[in-house]
Amino acid sequence: MKGKKMTGVKFILNPSSSKYYENYTAWLSENLVMRAMELSEPMQEAQQKKWFRQGITSTNTVRFEILEKSTKKPIGFCLIHDIDERISTAKVAVYIGDPNYRFRGYGSETLNLLCKYALYELKLHSLWCEVPSYNSGALSIFRKQGFTECGTRHHAGKIGDEYYNLTTFELINQSH
Ligand SMILES: CC(C)(COP(=O)(O)OP(=O)(O)OC[C@H]1O[C@@H](n2cnc3c(N)ncnc32)[C@H](O)[C@@H]1OP(=O)(O)O)[C@@H](O)C(=O)NCCC(=O)NCCS
Repeated sequence: MKGKKMTGVKFILNPSSSKYYENYTAWLSENLVMRAMELSEPMQEAQQKKWFRQGITSTNTVRFEILEKSTKKPIGFCLIHDIDERISTAKVAVYIGDPNYRFRGYGSETLNLLCKYALYELKLHSLWCEVPSYNSGALSIFRKQGFTECGTRHHAGKIGDEYYNLTTFELINQSH
């Protein structure tokens, strides 16, 4: 599903386009992005191409590249996915793929714009996501956006020998 171009204070959200395919190759092999996507190793080229195409053509996903506003430099991506029209819900996720741009406010502002688009333009009733207990940045941006914790699955994931918990966050739109 194609999104629309949106402008924030620090960045532009660009409806996903093949122009940025090479940037995804770098982002998807970056350590923290891989971990957040639960990839134990970088995707093979064919798998990555399929994943990339789905983000543009799938009817239940809307994906955007995050471009720094002043330089137009692509710094990551975000998406609304698993859109379920019957119950008007979807998952949301943000990935600042370039580590130099993390913890500078881009993730919080991206999530804010992405949620506004999902709730008021796509008119979804609820949004949700699952965040690993070790991911302090993601926990912080979802709480700040007003998501509430609605459950934790313990030892739901594993990195090396260490288990981690997955907390589910939800945001319900009471107006529709
Ligand atoms: C998680 C992520 C999207 C957050 O975006 P970001 O631009 O880095 O985050 P922001 O700068 O907007 O906000 C970070 C928040 O985390 C806090 N924080 C947590 N750990 C931190 C750390 N190690 N260093 C700095 N700030 C940290 C900050 O204080 C800030 O909260 P505050 O605004 O209440 O002070 C980004 O770091 C990222 O892409 N990480 C890798 C992929 C990932 O985990 N994606 C999540 C999938 S849902």
